[in-house]
Amino acid sequence: MTVTRITVLVVGATGSIGRVVVDEAIRQGHAVRALVRNRKAGQLPPEAQVIVGDVTRPDTPSGVADGVDAIVFTLGSDGAGKVGAESVDYGGVRNVLNALGLRKARIALMTSIGATNRTSSYNLATEAHDWKRRSERLVRASGLPYTIVRPGWFDYNGPDEHRLVLLQGDRRQAGNPSDGRVARRQIAEDLVRSLSSDHALRKTFELIATTGPASDDFDALFAPLDVDPQGALDGARDIANMPLDGEPQRVRDDLNAILTHSLSVDVH
Ligand SMILES: NC(=O)c1ccc[n+]([C@@H]2O[C@H](COP(=O)([O-])OP(=O)(O)OC[C@H]3O[C@@H](n4cnc5c(N)ncnc54)[C@H](OP(=O)(O)O)[C@@H]3O)[C@@H](O)[C@H]2O)c1
Repeated sequence: MTVTRITVLVVGATGSIGRVVVDEAIRQGHAVRALVRNRKAGQLPPEAQVIVGDVTRPDTPSGVADGVDAIVFTLGSDGAGKVGAESVDYGGVRNVLNALGLRKARIALMTSIGATNRTSSYNLATEAHDWKRRSERLVRASGLPYTIVRPGWFDYNGPDEHRLVLLQGDRRQAGNPSDGRVARRQIAEDLVRSLSSDHALRKTFELIATTGPASDDFDALFAPLDVDPQGALDGARDIANMPLDGEPQRVRDDLNAILTHSLSVDVH
């Protein structure tokens, strides 16, 4: 795979995945802009350009997306309940896409394995899956070139589990590491590699690791996957259990707004 140097905005750059994404993007030769809420940015490498902002503010971070070629979202609101899930996991994606305006950027969005499981006790308590899934829908409706990665459980993989496996349809919904596990480093590499791969375009997949050796041929991993259907809000093979007419009006309004940039999805 030939990698061209691009400028990558990392949203969630101080997180357990975001920090590794920053390192990985620099390692792959990219320029990195790291969006942080506060000056914990001291933990970030000096090569990263740090920009301070809170994604829950609709007017913030103004200018964050100026001049970027790609955006990697690794936001997380764990522990902040339904309000955090809506304002950070979903609202953060919406606000940064709005900051991008009419400009084009490649998107890599990290959500979660089980994102389509609406009936788990975890989702009923936090709505975290529902809001992450709605953030996926915004990205699909944006008309931007994207890849959506739903990782398994972070760093639960055994010492011999290095072989990446990409699944679709989100059918593993036990809600524990038996659904699949993957190393943080592997998630970060996959997210950054997706930005440079035509084979990852408009694809949604679960990312896990199983027994076997690692491969760095990410094109070969992405290529066999189904593309998300043109105009669809959900990923290829996803269960259709979130009908649009049952969605909150504010969510439909957001979809309509983002469709002013892309008329490929009919949300009415
Ligand atoms: N653990 C697992 O096995 C697993 C598996 C699949 C998916 N996931 C999901 O992956 C997500 C991310 O995981 P993680 O471990 O990287 O989370 P994390 O360490 O909590 O990182 C979350 C990132 O989001 C940033 N953030 C939160 N609110 C923000 C705001 N208002 N404005 C700007 N940035 C904000 C945080 O910034 P600060 O540093 O300032 O807080 C941090 O950089 C979680 O939502 C989790 O549910 C987890």
